[in-house]
Amino acid sequence: MMFARQSLRIAARALRYPTGAGAVRAITTNLNVTSVAKSSWQKMVFATGTTGLLIGFAWNTEIAHTLSAKIDWEGAVRKDIVKMIEDEEERRGDGTSIGPTLIRLGFHTSGTYDRTAQNGGSNGACMRFIPEAHYEANQGLSFPRALLEPLQAKYGMSFSDLWTFAAKVAVEEAGGPVIPWRSGRTDADDGSKSVPDGRLPDATQGAAHLRSIFNRMGLNDQEIVALSGGHSMGFCHLDTSGFVGPWTFAPNSFSNEYFRLLVEEKWVPKKTHKGKIWRGPLQYEDSTGNLMMLPTDMALMEDPAFKKWVIAYKEDEELFSKHFAAAFSKLLELGVPFPKEKTSGGSFLAKMKNMLGL
Ligand code: HEM
Repeated sequence: MMFARQSLRIAARALRYPTGAGAVRAITTNLNVTSVAKSSWQKMVFATGTTGLLIGFAWNTEIAHTLSAKIDWEGAVRKDIVKMIEDEEERRGDGTSIGPTLIRLGFHTSGTYDRTAQNGGSNGACMRFIPEAHYEANQGLSFPRALLEPLQAKYGMSFSDLWTFAAKVAVEEAGGPVIPWRSGRTDADDGSKSVPDGRLPDATQGAAHLRSIFNRMGLNDQEIVALSGGHSMGFCHLDTSGFVGPWTFAPNSFSNEYFRLLVEEKWVPKKTHKGKIWRGPLQYEDSTGNLMMLPTDMALMEDPAFKKWVIAYKEDEELFSKHFAAAFSKLLELGVPFPKEKTSGGSFLAKMKNMLGL
């Protein structure tokens, strides 16, 4: 029994490795330790059997969930993410923040979900690998991913949990609502599980495209409009998407300004940029020429079913915050196989958890 306990502890530690190789290394070590220490064939059989059992468990999402839940997400991890955002703001010194880009990372890692094919979504964090890292829609996201890497090394959580948690923290730190979030995502070992390119929205298109992209994820009209309110924060960057500018005058703050501006401003196609002819894709600008809207943003005003929600959120910021929190939380969880809540503690798994001292 002592060996079993020791083995289970080693496997639990292995789960903290970012890659499967780490887990295999730890389990192999475990096999050597037990078999060499007690060099009888019975012990060998025991060790091999235990190890086989552990490999099965090592990838069990329920165990991953339990281990991840042991991380001090709301204390230490949140503190480090906030510090990272603040340090980056200071380094830039131009008033822009990495916060909105973390929110975009959270969207792009989750928004690949297809409810019919039952694949994609934040689980796996496949954007670390080719081909997903190179998809056009993911331009500009290697930087926030790199900034988060030291935190993964420090705490040993999955990247998929870390990226989605960072997005939640970024919304909350920008003055947004609390985004319900739970840990338990696991990472893929390579890019073989990446879904094909083209699952994220194309900003040059209209309402039908938005519905086809978001309905595929299982999100409806109201959720599409609420989520689009994420554009109250951040910028478009010429070198990333080819579009340029912020949507609001306070791009570091969560608010319903995006909806107010959509309704109240007169948006016209952008014709010039810094005194020269605008040669980029069609985008719209406000009367000051400083703010922008994408064709997909304008589609929310052109489609009556979308417009109904634009007006509702413009008039009621609290309603927008509530709907955004629900929709963003849902988005971050799409396709994640969270374990079902246990109603009794008597399962085999519960006993194994008990043995692990979890
Ligand atoms: C509705 C379809 C959407 C389209 C077509 C779209 C498109 C874009 C584009 C083209 C950019 C500029 C990227 C760059 O140049 O760096 C951008 C940025 C951004 N998007 Fe979206 N997006 C959509 C939905 C969302 C959703 C659902 C969220 C989150 C809830 C979101 C949050 C953001 C944020 C915060 C930024 C600013 C990033 C930064 O400042 O670096 N977007 N989006």
